[in-house]
Amino acid sequence: IYQTKNTDKMTILTKLQIDMIRSKISGLGFFVPENVVSNDDLSKLMDTSNDWISERTGIKNRRWVGDKKLTTSLMGTYAAEKAIADAGIDKNDIDFIIFSTLSPDYYFPGSGVLLQRNLGIKEIGALDVRNQCSGFIYGLSIADQYIKSGMYKNILLVGSEIHSGGLDKSTKGRSVSVIFGDGAGAAIISSTKSENGILSTHLHSEGKYAEELAVIKPATTHWIDKIKSDQNDESFWPYMNGNFVFKNAVVRFEQVIKEGLEHSNLNLEDISLLIPHQANLRISQFIQKKLKLSDSQVFNNIMKYGNTTAASIPIALTEAYQSNLKKKNDIVVLAAFGSGFTWGSAVIKW
Ligand code: COA
Repeated sequence: IYQTKNTDKMTILTKLQIDMIRSKISGLGFFVPENVVSNDDLSKLMDTSNDWISERTGIKNRRWVGDKKLTTSLMGTYAAEKAIADAGIDKNDIDFIIFSTLSPDYYFPGSGVLLQRNLGIKEIGALDVRNQCSGFIYGLSIADQYIKSGMYKNILLVGSEIHSGGLDKSTKGRSVSVIFGDGAGAAIISSTKSENGILSTHLHSEGKYAEELAVIKPATTHWIDKIKSDQNDESFWPYMNGNFVFKNAVVRFEQVIKEGLEHSNLNLEDISLLIPHQANLRISQFIQKKLKLSDSQVFNNIMKYGNTTAASIPIALTEAYQSNLKKKNDIVVLAAFGSGFTWGSAVIKW
């Protein structure tokens, strides 16, 4: 690639320049709705209890938008404004938008363009990522490649979800609806010439399990008229094979964390902070035990917000960052697993 005729000098220079560019997280922010929904609140809607939810998931509270006029893109905008301020850049310095969500405002267009409109910024590109709980890591990986190639300098990456409107809050839907919360998190990914920044990202998928955690309808396979014609068909509610998801999650989390570390010749002891996607506290605890990590090496905040899918990592990352849990040169590992199945990790030298 770098030895084309007559241009050896120039291509070697280009390669050197590319090698020097790394991407880093330069700003973070999150937004959650004010409306706190406790486990006791849920037990008024369905046959469940604080004990069941706490023991099985670790969740105590979650935020649901309630009657507030919030949308996925609006919550993403509030989180983005905080991340832009934290990065100390002008919003017009952003070159590209990546919006990760499984609960977009519209079927189409995606929420990225709505974020561009809400922020009132110039006509930059906006990409929507549909990778559910792994959405933030997938988005981070895309941002990392664009920055390393030299194409963009500042990318706005947002994960935002409104689950509450799409959950079956009757007893029938209780194994899913108690887990999910609404929220948004945002990061500015910027180019840097420092050796600190994103060291690697690794992404995976296994589509044979696509229907084990999914919302099947409405979609091109089942348009609205088909749903209406079968009153007993309720597959517009999320379906989750909880036990199967749990078993796969713990295996994939471990694999992809190790894969990321090995890529940079790092060991588990080198991890300063692991921020797993906040799927279920028991999953995080299982991984912590398996990897023999101390309590101070793993960050969890699912107790407060529930599982916010694509928003969970940027919300947790922002809270960890605001609590001064990360110091310069710390090795921060992000990892996620979710619907698809998809999973991934990012290793960052802070
Ligand atoms: N409240 C009270 N009881 C409930 C309940 C609720 N919210 N949800 C389910 N139950 C009941 C079930 O009906 C079942 O009752 P039964 O034994 O009389 O049939 C019993 O609790 C056990 O259900 P089960 O589904 O086997 O529980 P579990 O131990 O597997 O826990 C999950 C369920 C969902 C908490 C668990 O499977 C899990 O965390 N999976 C991973 C989910 C996840 O992380 N998803 C996100 C991935 S990104």
